[in-house]
Amino acid sequence: MRIIPKPAENTPMGGTYFLSGKTFSTDKAFASLIPTVEKRLDLRQGEGDVAFLVDEKIPPQGYNIEVNEEGVKVYASEKQGAFYGIITLQQYKKTGVPYGTIFDKPRFSYRGIMLDVARHFFDKEVVKETLEQMAYYKLNVFHWHLTDDQGWRVEIKKYPHLAEVGCVRKDESLNWLGKMKGEEYGRGCYFTQDDIREIVAFAAERFITVIPEIDMPGHLTSALALFPELSCEKKPLEVSPKWGVKDTVGCIGNPDFFAFTHDIIDEICDLFPSPYFHIGGDEVPRTKWKSCPACQALMQEKNLKKEGDLQGYFTRETVAYLASKGKRTIGWNEILRTNDIEENVIVQWWTGKDETLQWLSKGGETIVSPCKVCYLDYPYIATNLEKIYGLGPEAMGASPEQKGVLGIEAPLWTEVIYDKKKYDFQLYPRLQAVAEAGWTPLSRKNYKDFTERLASFLEELKEQGINFCPPEKYNPVGWKGLRQKWIVGRKFLREPNVEVNL
Ligand code: ACM
Ligand code: ZN
Repeated sequence: MRIIPKPAENTPMGGTYFLSGKTFSTDKAFASLIPTVEKRLDLRQGEGDVAFLVDEKIPPQGYNIEVNEEGVKVYASEKQGAFYGIITLQQYKKTGVPYGTIFDKPRFSYRGIMLDVARHFFDKEVVKETLEQMAYYKLNVFHWHLTDDQGWRVEIKKYPHLAEVGCVRKDESLNWLGKMKGEEYGRGCYFTQDDIREIVAFAAERFITVIPEIDMPGHLTSALALFPELSCEKKPLEVSPKWGVKDTVGCIGNPDFFAFTHDIIDEICDLFPSPYFHIGGDEVPRTKWKSCPACQALMQEKNLKKEGDLQGYFTRETVAYLASKGKRTIGWNEILRTNDIEENVIVQWWTGKDETLQWLSKGGETIVSPCKVCYLDYPYIATNLEKIYGLGPEAMGASPEQKGVLGIEAPLWTEVIYDKKKYDFQLYPRLQAVAEAGWTPLSRKNYKDFTERLASFLEELKEQGINFCPPEKYNPVGWKGLRQKWIVGRKFLREPNVEVNL
């Protein structure tokens, strides 16, 4: 079988159908997919050896395929499902489609990859290549981490200097211990609003939702460097040249901070049609709020018991503002460590098992992204391919059927991903493992079978010039694994920007 992710059900009958030189027809409900069929399958419109038909009974994103010597019939109830039928045929284009049937639908409706472009910038072409790879494996969410302490990478018309100044840091950390490179990084490295619109449209053609993240009220130094008056101490600061969590965060007691975040939200909402908006909310130190008169006055006025409740106040206010614009808020699980959070919020679960399980037990919803299982910046000795293949609520000790789990997402943070070669190495073939973890029912998943199917897809990546991690390195085990752990661990701390892909 030459397909990733593995379908929910398939019954091969023996024999193969070759698509080359054949024609296709579509139900008019799928007319907008005609260019996609032409491009991906090299078919011409005609009598319809290959037919795309509506079947209302098929669930959203699902599709069925029947193949015999007469041709191929693809059924779906809506366009996204029909698109996944096309993708399945595309994967079989070279080898021929096996006669038989496929009944397919995803385990989770949300199947994502996150990309941090703040720490290191990856341009429009890299983003598009990633989106194309995601679509080819039926991933459907691209979470775009656009801002952080080390860089602001999206144009905001109301504050033109924000991207121009916020995208540059005067120096760059070469390791986790503070060794500096001695050179400026990032000048001109940001996405214009036109770039964003182009990428969002490119993703939409591939049924991928792009979710923007503006991390607030922490991880915001690149903006506070331009507007220090929005921090508690109001002291000048710089776009951070070093990794790690910063104490300086937005001043919740200052109404101008809310005016600023609303301005950003307004423009970002106009650019991204996604129903979701990610506000970050991770790793927000409370130190500066403790000694800030404005924050302390707000705590008194609103009867907030502890500094942490200031983050709750900020989150609730921001959630309400986003709701007024028709958006649902997503935040990292730290947003639960404060006072009451609106039930409609979606929590991205990267640590914090107890708080997230409690949230789920109250009827909340989550996206599963455990750092120890699926962080893509970690070396393969930490989050190897097999571990990532196991991504799901069960990897966090929850039930596979846990209610409230919308899906899964693997983040690619880029502190130590400094070029495209390393980007490829960290991402592939983990992307394929994430795709199958998100799509294939647990009863059908099998790591060994996955790696066997993966082989021919690695050939494709090679042809495409993608520097994927090869089989002998993606699952280091035994003595070899221990040796790698030791060497990579030391190098990772001391020199993350040198090649440690043993
Ligand atoms: C995170 O890794 N700080 C969400
Ligand atoms: Zn303050």
